[in-house]
Amino acid sequence: MSIKDKFDIKGRVAVITGGAGLLGKEFARTLLEYGGKVVMADIARDRGAAALKEIGQGSKGDIVYEYVDVSSKDSVEKMAQSVKKRFGKVDILINCAALDPKFEAGDMEKHGYAFEDYPLESWERAVSVNLTGAFLCCQVIGRIMISQEKGVIVNVASEIGMIAPDNRIYIKKAEPEKKRFKPIDYPVTKAALIHLSRYLASYWGDKNIRVNTLTPATVYTDQDDELVKNISYRAILGRMSDKNEFCGALIFLVSDASSYMTGANLVVDGGRTAW
Ligand SMILES: NC(=O)c1ccc[n+]([C@@H]2O[C@H](COP(=O)([O-])OP(=O)(O)OC[C@H]3O[C@@H](n4cnc5c(N)ncnc54)[C@H](O)[C@@H]3O)[C@@H](O)[C@H]2O)c1
Repeated sequence: MSIKDKFDIKGRVAVITGGAGLLGKEFARTLLEYGGKVVMADIARDRGAAALKEIGQGSKGDIVYEYVDVSSKDSVEKMAQSVKKRFGKVDILINCAALDPKFEAGDMEKHGYAFEDYPLESWERAVSVNLTGAFLCCQVIGRIMISQEKGVIVNVASEIGMIAPDNRIYIKKAEPEKKRFKPIDYPVTKAALIHLSRYLASYWGDKNIRVNTLTPATVYTDQDDELVKNISYRAILGRMSDKNEFCGALIFLVSDASSYMTGANLVVDGGRTAW
């Protein structure tokens, strides 16, 4: 098989949790382009419908939306059964769903808490989605993959799961006294996902199920210029990323192109964690 052919995922069924989100949609487009059948599994029905409209239906219904709340085992089971009924199998799982309050208008109030005052319920909610959600999806879909004697799982982490957030980047020149923080739960759950991948790679090493992590860095959305400058400065490439700059790494990880790779963390961060 040629290297080019190894990237082909024709007929393979992929579940993307958080599939209606910013990166989930990009991943969905990529998997479709390489011949896959895609399930955008997401808690937000409205976003799911909009994403389907935006991407188009693919040929022969190759892309669908499924409701799931990844923090509920019952909901994950229902989603997995529905996918099995529709497509007969699950070859690929991408754990992308996350709670990640952005540093943008509308989300800013979530960044005002000092760690000492951080609400327990915020911590528990984020852990239940970002970490327990991936745990449950691996458990439920991993069982299907065991029965198929084949599967690939990608857990989507973050560069601040590898390094601590530098909270100085959120301080504005005009308001030096006003501190803003990346909430503790996000980097801690992302760090845990990297180890979830290693654990499961080791655990399923003899089951033909590969488990890896994809680590992206901050994507351009609606951040203000000051924040963009502060984050860009920390990347070797001197900029943040476009939303489609992780898709090459993603198709590598889910296809046979990475057949000898498991338990690894593929870091696509413009060099931010390299210095
Ligand atoms: N965007 C970035 O700059 C960036 C950088 C590094 C890592 N990441 C990671 O990439 C992944 C995707 O990020 P994004 O920017 O697309 O985020 P996003 O907020 O746009 O998408 C996340 C999706 O998860 C869904 N979701 C939330 N709770 C859920 C639940 N309980 N069950 C099912 N779905 C749920 C949301 O509805 C949303 O569609 C995340 O894991 C994030 O941590 C993003």
